[in-house]
Amino acid sequence: MEVINNFVSLKSHIDGSPQESDFEILTETLPLSVVAGSKDVLVKNMYVSIDPYQLNRMKSLSSSQTSGSSYAVGVTLGQAIDAYGVGKVVASGHPDFEKDDLVIGLISWGEYSIVKEGSILNKLNSLGFPYTYHVGILGFSGLTAYAGFFDVCKPKKGEKVFVSAASGSVGNLVGQYAKLLGCYVVGCAGTQKKVDLLKSKLGFDEAFNYKEEGDLKAALKKYFPDGIDIYFDNVGAEIVAVCGVISEYTDKAKRAAPDMIDVVYKRITIRGFLAGDYMSLFPEFMTATTDHLQTGKMHALEDISQGLESVPSAFAGIFRGDNVGKKIVQIAEE
Ligand SMILES: NC(=O)c1ccc[n+]([C@@H]2O[C@H](COP(=O)([O-])OP(=O)(O)OC[C@H]3O[C@@H](n4cnc5c(N)ncnc54)[C@H](OP(=O)(O)O)[C@@H]3O)[C@@H](O)[C@H]2O)c1
Repeated sequence: MEVINNFVSLKSHIDGSPQESDFEILTETLPLSVVAGSKDVLVKNMYVSIDPYQLNRMKSLSSSQTSGSSYAVGVTLGQAIDAYGVGKVVASGHPDFEKDDLVIGLISWGEYSIVKEGSILNKLNSLGFPYTYHVGILGFSGLTAYAGFFDVCKPKKGEKVFVSAASGSVGNLVGQYAKLLGCYVVGCAGTQKKVDLLKSKLGFDEAFNYKEEGDLKAALKKYFPDGIDIYFDNVGAEIVAVCGVISEYTDKAKRAAPDMIDVVYKRITIRGFLAGDYMSLFPEFMTATTDHLQTGKMHALEDISQGLESVPSAFAGIFRGDNVGKKIVQIAEE
């Protein structure tokens, strides 16, 4: 038995902003079984994550590609692009998995994935939550926000927190954790609709549209007349880079450099981190976050597109600010 597998692949390396035309959908035939004697797992993909870091993998060269992280290796032209997601096992040579198991891990932007032994793949216990939550709020976006905020920033109740890309997948969760701790939270985002959502649905104290603020420093002075205690940066460009530097991914001329004199006189600590370094916090993060979801204290913000063919526009869209919350593409019905 064979199946047709459609998958998204990269036509040429991307060294600026990604466009839909940088990608093409290719087709291959796959046997509905795994190579005898191998520990391969054939997965039918259901939901795949759309993440900014993938752009660094698609460049001709990026320092992230030589970082030694398996998920950061460069993407090969014409091949399937691996991505985090949820799927169902179709065939397995691995003793830990059997047909129809629900799994989460590194699958691909395609209809089917062959997951090799040693790659990230786990059985998924949905805990009664939608599967998509495990790609976003209960997955790496959540762990990034939780570990980055609580462990890297070491916040205290009442501190003043600023979050950039605040309606994004990580940013909205940082703001929600900070509000639950009792911090004063201000977020910036790229549209009025996002600004309204941060204040009305997620309880941010203030929010503003950075595209309408000519002078970012003056805007921050307005919202933080006595200064900022914690700046959780997803964007880079002007002040402190902690979580991500998405503006630099598409424009090399934009350096995520803080004003170094401020670093000295304000005794600012700047720290980069990767969520993968905090897997030991995963159980604590899951207990806290599932509890907040069950009691209605946290909200999942998701932005789900339908169909494999929507992956290129979903990916290009995150660099245009099209998404509100975690961007996911549903490849197949549950
Ligand atoms: N350290 C880690 O382990 C880790 C883990 C996950 C993510 N990250 C990083 O965290 C950041 C956010 O990731 P995410 O998954 O939560 O993505 P996301 O925020 O859901 O999506 C990207 C958002 O960033 C904003 N944006 C895009 N291009 C921009 C630019 N040039 N300048 C300013 N804002 C821009 C857009 O919102 P607006 O409309 O508001 O502009 C867009 O909606 C990224 O830099 C990502 O690489 C780091």
